[in-house]
Amino acid sequence: MADRILVAYATRYGSTAEVAEAIGEELRKAGITVDVQPVGEVQDLSPYRAAVIGSPIYMGKWLPESQVFIEKNQQYLRTIPVAYFAVGLTVADGGPDILRKAEASMDQVRMLVNPVEIGIFPGKLESSRLSFTDRAIVTMIRAKTGDFRDWEAIRSWVEAVRSKIAPA
Ligand SMILES: Cc1cc2nc3c(=O)[nH]c(=O)nc-3n(C[C@H](O)[C@H](O)[C@H](O)COP(=O)(O)O)c2cc1C
Repeated sequence: MADRILVAYATRYGSTAEVAEAIGEELRKAGITVDVQPVGEVQDLSPYRAAVIGSPIYMGKWLPESQVFIEKNQQYLRTIPVAYFAVGLTVADGGPDILRKAEASMDQVRMLVNPVEIGIFPGKLESSRLSFTDRAIVTMIRAKTGDFRDWEAIRSWVEAVRSKIAPA
C-alpha cells in the first residue's frame, strides 16, 4: 500500500538538499513515514501516497533534473497530491515582482502536474564554493552572498501543506 511521502529535490551546491531534509523532518514529526531523496535516486513511486518536489532556481528556472523527473513520472504524480517548492536568492528581497518571477520558475512543471500547493524559499550562496562559470555569473549580476534560508518559514509551510498532502 502507498503509505509513504516522498520529498524529492535537485541541488547544485547542497542548500536545497538541506531544505528538503528540513521538510522531511517536519513531516516525520507528524508521524508520517518520509523518504528524502535526490530526484535522480528515486526508482519507484508506487510506495508514495504524496510527493513534495523541489529545485533551486538558476537563471530563473528550475534545474532540469527536477523538471525531467516530473515529466517522466507525470502519469503517476497526477494520481497523488503533489506540492512544489523553489529555492532562490532573489526571493530574500521579497517584492511581489520578484516573487512572481520565482513562481514562474515552476510554470512548466505546473502545466505537467498541477500541485496542491507551492512554496518559495530564500536560499544560500557561498561564492567560494561556486564553479568558475557560476562565480562569473554571480559576479556579473552582483548577486549577494550568504545564507538566507528561513527554517521557521519552511516549517510553517510544511504545517500548511500537511493537511493537503496527508490528511489525518
Ligand atoms: C549562477 C547562478 C544563478 C542563479 N540564478 C538565480 C535566479 O535566477 N533566481 C534566484 O532566486 N536565485 C538564483 N540563484 C541563487 C540560487 O538559487 C541559490 O543560491 C540556491 O540556494 C542554490 O541552491 P543549491 O545550493 O541547492 O544549488 C542563482 C545562483 C547561481 C550560482
